[in-house]
Amino acid sequence: MSTNIIPTNSPQATVNNDGSSDLTLDALVETLDSLRVAPALEEIDALLREVAVRDDELRPHLGFKNGTYARHRVFRNEFAELMVLCWQPGQKTPIHDHNGSFGAVRVLQGIMWETMFGFDEAQKICYRSAREWQSGLVTGADVPDIHQLGNPEVSGQNLITLHIYAPPLGVLNTYKVGSTEIGHYTPDEFMDGAGI
Ligand SMILES: [Fe+2]
Repeated sequence: MSTNIIPTNSPQATVNNDGSSDLTLDALVETLDSLRVAPALEEIDALLREVAVRDDELRPHLGFKNGTYARHRVFRNEFAELMVLCWQPGQKTPIHDHNGSFGAVRVLQGIMWETMFGFDEAQKICYRSAREWQSGLVTGADVPDIHQLGNPEVSGQNLITLHIYAPPLGVLNTYKVGSTEIGHYTPDEFMDGAGI
């Protein structure tokens, strides 16, 4: 099958001439497993734009919780981490950054709201902007972006998202609007939805 390589710095990233992709979820795991350095934001962004996740591949990683969104780890090595997150309407992350990791998200089903934050003159966290991401779209979080993701309560549907973090998430920083206080979460805690 004839293929075009996109992008050139992304291992095993291929699309066919008809626009379809051979990068299944399993192939994405293989790609991440072959990494020998942590990929750049542009690389994980390109992988999530290209991936074509089959329903049968996704099914084992689906599961929703009441009260908080659910995190399902698909793969992790020292260079990158792949996760599926499942959100009921109204569920959202705390305001957070990724503490040195790049993050990219693809919406697989539903609608995701992302809100961006900055600092005011007093170095308190403050609202900057917000936007909506529809199914199929990909957004990346650079270092040191501060954001909040969620499934809007008015969406009327569940949200399923696919995330790559590079390197894998460590201890995260969390914030509250109008405050200079910075909180921290460890991986064991945020597997239960305390932050991403
Ligand atoms: Fe995030």
